[in-house]
Amino acid sequence: MFDIQPKVIFEKTKHLLSANIPTNNDELQTFVNETVEVLKYHEWRYYVIVEPIIGDTEYDELYKKLESIELSNPDLILADSPTQRVSNDLKSDMPSVNHLESMLSLDNSYNLEDLENFDKRIKKLCDLPENEAVEYVVEPKYDGGSIALVFENDTLTRAATRGNGTQGEEITANARTIKSIPQKANFSSFGINKVELRGEVLIRKDIFEKLNEERKEAGKDLYANARNTATGGLRTKTPQKSAERKMDAFIYQLGYTEGDFSIKNHHENIEVLSKLGFKVPTVETKVCKNIKEVHDFCKMWEEKRDSYNYEIDGMVVKVNSLNLQDQCGQTNHHPRWAIAFKFKAKQATSILETVEYQIGKTGSITPVAKIKPVQLAGVTVSSISLHNEDFIQEKDIMIGDTVVVERAGDVIPYIASSMSSIRNGEEQPIEFPKNCPSCETVLTRVENEAAWRCPNVSGCPAQQLQRIIFHVSKPAMDIDGFGKSNVERFFELGYLNSIADVYRLPFEEIEKLEGFGARSIEKLRNSIEKAKLNPLHRLLVSLSVHHLGKKASKIIASKIKSIFDLTTINEEWLTEIKDIGPILAKNVISYFHDENNIQLLRQLEELGVNTTQLEADQPVEIIETDHPFSGKTILFTGALQQLKRKEAQEKALSVGAIIASSVNKKLNILVVGEKAGSKLKKAQELGSVEIITEADFIEQLK
Ligand code: IVH
Repeated sequence: MFDIQPKVIFEKTKHLLSANIPTNNDELQTFVNETVEVLKYHEWRYYVIVEPIIGDTEYDELYKKLESIELSNPDLILADSPTQRVSNDLKSDMPSVNHLESMLSLDNSYNLEDLENFDKRIKKLCDLPENEAVEYVVEPKYDGGSIALVFENDTLTRAATRGNGTQGEEITANARTIKSIPQKANFSSFGINKVELRGEVLIRKDIFEKLNEERKEAGKDLYANARNTATGGLRTKTPQKSAERKMDAFIYQLGYTEGDFSIKNHHENIEVLSKLGFKVPTVETKVCKNIKEVHDFCKMWEEKRDSYNYEIDGMVVKVNSLNLQDQCGQTNHHPRWAIAFKFKAKQATSILETVEYQIGKTGSITPVAKIKPVQLAGVTVSSISLHNEDFIQEKDIMIGDTVVVERAGDVIPYIASSMSSIRNGEEQPIEFPKNCPSCETVLTRVENEAAWRCPNVSGCPAQQLQRIIFHVSKPAMDIDGFGKSNVERFFELGYLNSIADVYRLPFEEIEKLEGFGARSIEKLRNSIEKAKLNPLHRLLVSLSVHHLGKKASKIIASKIKSIFDLTTINEEWLTEIKDIGPILAKNVISYFHDENNIQLLRQLEELGVNTTQLEADQPVEIIETDHPFSGKTILFTGALQQLKRKEAQEKALSVGAIIASSVNKKLNILVVGEKAGSKLKKAQELGSVEIITEADFIEQLK
């Protein structure tokens, strides 16, 4: 199914979307079957190979169409229908199940010497001469939760966690919610009747960040890290809760197999899995001719691990030939034919010297540990957030403690633990302040919230400063050339006391300051003028209303004509809007009914800042299908100047284009930005590709 031409599926999708639902029973079953196949194909493109050819809206629309048919015709529901991923099963216990084959661990290596010793051992075990090179497959060592998936007669019948290696917990319903795991796969076409696959469940880094942003906006506690969120996600009691964690699964090993199956090496196994629609490491994997090549590839990945969108803590080196693997055998702990190459530790110890307190834009007080500077995976760390008072208590952290500092795939370091057992008695408890370090107001703590806050919202200088810094920043009013240091400088000089002052800066004074030339002033002036014309949702975000982020601001801005509408509406009106919860509604009402804030908004209006709904505030969900780009395969290359790459792709998708990933004969249009390189050259050589500039693309979009 996955080798069907994208264009064919694209046309089929359009047809299914626009077609009337058949009334005849046989035709209806065919319609359902086709819709399931098409949706499964789009899931594969989106979740497995990450090259969607339709937009989210179209997928959702077709999904809903299927769901509504299934609701009134339950007998037509197919077991592998995408709607059946999230069931209503509620489990109190996860039953234990025996793995078909033990899930072993891996031996570790850390350098070239370790790898060379491993290579020598392999040759000895396989009776090979020392000068004969063994072929290895090297793939990422994913840092998530391992799973075993059993497929019988092409159907996923069981999923289990690793557990103790021989017995794991049965988590089939939760695993079904992972969209990169097909619920059916045509193993029988390769002669396989029953198989146990091994893989790792994890959450993509950017998705994990988004999950946390959403939790922050909803006032929920943040997830600590992607790994625990994934392992916990496998074991939630309701599949719905698992689905919310948007987990992903890489499959890297074929385990127990029944059937007439004649594949000779590991790499081919992986290719078979890929053909069957599983997400496998492809570009991340290399077949290496000798152990030196293995080491080079591992080191290359160690360099770029931070820019990879999944957490990895090393590489796994596997003997490619399955015959040689058999000759090597295994210990009770690990297979002898594989070894992990572990990346440099992202963990170090240091001494916590003191704690400082930062005041956020909404008054929250964040304790920050100042530690003796320590090197951690290439960077010097001296300052680490302690989040809140509960965190300090849970981790039992004291001043003077030796603390274990970690940097996971994300760049932000954190304190993993404090070594309380080696205290010498001179450590001091961390006394959380009772008063605001900036304005001395007594701090308060709202029920169910972890943070202590300074309630002096409009009078606290530290809060004002943070709000101004945020107001001008990229996610808010996006005033180019107005960085944090400029805000701090103008604030100290008394030019900025509230966000309204941003629009009445004394440029004649600023001109006299060191470091400000006529050009930089002109630039800043222009950026400020431009920001005044921002859509309403940007202004809403920029006000630092507690929990009011980008998504909710966009929703609210699409429902009101002027910002002043918010000064007269009530909580009920807001909570009736989908996705606006009661906590956010309460915060919004309390902000927009406060006289000081209303006055601030009036000042902004008088200073020329847009306070009304603009076209960019209205929801856009139009899918055009007779657009010139519709059905065309498009690729973007080089640095785009006006649009972000993702934005450009979304725009193309929204008018029916298909996003390609490489230049080949099937490519219709190549959009070139600055410094376009090999892709442009290849397209020119092919001669069949239409090459257009970013400006042409924008022009033709209209
Ligand atoms: S192969 C029998 N391949 O690492 C071979 N494991 O420390 C054992 N892991 O429990 C597994 N990425 O959860 C293999 N590409 C990969 C892997 C991988 C991550 C995990 C797996 C295993 C652990 C061993």
